[in-house]
Amino acid sequence: MTLEQAREKLAKYGQGHVLKYYGELSQKERQSLLDQIEATDMSILEACRHREELTRKGKITPLKAMQLQEIEACRESFTATGLEVIRQGKVGAVLLAGGMGTRLGSDDPKGMYNVGITKELYIFQCLIHNLMDVVRQAEKWIHLFVMTSEKNHDATAAFLKEHGYFGYKEEFVHFFKQEMAAATDYQGRIYLEDKGRLSTSPNGNGGWFSSMKNNGLLDFVQKQGIEWLNVFAVDNVLQRIADPCFIGATIQKNCVVGAKVVRKNAPDEKVGVMCLEDGRPSIVEYYELTRELMNARDENGEPAYNFGVILNYLFHEKELENMMTSRMPLHVVEKKIPYLNDAGEFVNPQEPNGYKYESLVLDMIHQLESCLPFEVERNREFAPIKNRTGVDSVESARALLQANGVEL
Ligand code: UTP
Repeated sequence: MTLEQAREKLAKYGQGHVLKYYGELSQKERQSLLDQIEATDMSILEACRHREELTRKGKITPLKAMQLQEIEACRESFTATGLEVIRQGKVGAVLLAGGMGTRLGSDDPKGMYNVGITKELYIFQCLIHNLMDVVRQAEKWIHLFVMTSEKNHDATAAFLKEHGYFGYKEEFVHFFKQEMAAATDYQGRIYLEDKGRLSTSPNGNGGWFSSMKNNGLLDFVQKQGIEWLNVFAVDNVLQRIADPCFIGATIQKNCVVGAKVVRKNAPDEKVGVMCLEDGRPSIVEYYELTRELMNARDENGEPAYNFGVILNYLFHEKELENMMTSRMPLHVVEKKIPYLNDAGEFVNPQEPNGYKYESLVLDMIHQLESCLPFEVERNREFAPIKNRTGVDSVESARALLQANGVEL
């Protein structure tokens, strides 16, 4: 993109200020800034002016989860179905590791965090070990797709290579980078993080499927005959990945997506809960859950919205292709964004100072026809690491790992 074209694009979106330091930049820096301006979707930024409308929900009603008792009764049959499709090479796993992990506060990608105490045990290592259990059970390697972002790609790829993919077969590990989105102040003006760089952050975990496509991996998935993609977060060190029983249950129930859920430990626990929204499967975030919904009961007197999602979903790949045409909803999220102030000084704010623009994987559920909420025992499969201490932290995850017999 030439300087003239950049000016034109910026003028259209009221972002001309990002060229403020252009005259001070080297030739190389200028080119990189122009490239960034070209690549940035500025049309989304006006969304900050109607944030509330973006996430308005329809009519919420309960959606029944498949609970532990039923799962136990059918475990053998579900597992047999799941193992069969894994052995046919029809299952892939997608690790979402493009996030910034700001709450954990480590400079490295979250998966590189060492949760060990007397020995090294990295988050990536825990996840790969869990997946390896299934590889051994099925006697079949499962393609593992790892989503990174511009911010953490090199470190992630180098770390996994250096550690020999923790025993995973290299040709079954595929990386792809997610796209970035600009971050703005409260008026929607893009921040600069440097004189020649727009402030950007990964565009949310909902971009995983289109990023796979843009990186050519969807062709690979189709050529391999992969029909199911198990998408999971980097931070839950206890989760079971490509779990044959979960896969078998989703298939036997004729659902196009399965969602692992845990029974909530309190009505106001901070997890998104499964529900129906205008008759379609959906997830209502904890901050959207009204008192009325929180206290609602089903016909058996049980809490009607009692199953929280843990970011472990099994998607039928064909359904996602069909969905590509409709645009994912955008979430405008208030965050702390490092920026250059008017005097050109770098500021690392202690309080939120603007918005990031993200799409979320949970919004994909609402676009699909049928979803199976599949209960898992929280003490055995849910140990998320969001913070260093307290709730959902390194501390709590260590205790859960130990309770499950993992040596730290
Ligand atoms: P979180 O919502 O916990 O965000 O991500 P985060 O960036 O890891 O952490 P904080 O909020 O900055 O502390 C849930 C999952 O989605 C992935 C994360 O890597 C994690 O596995 N994710 C999140 C992405 O892959 N890309 C994103 O843009 C955001």
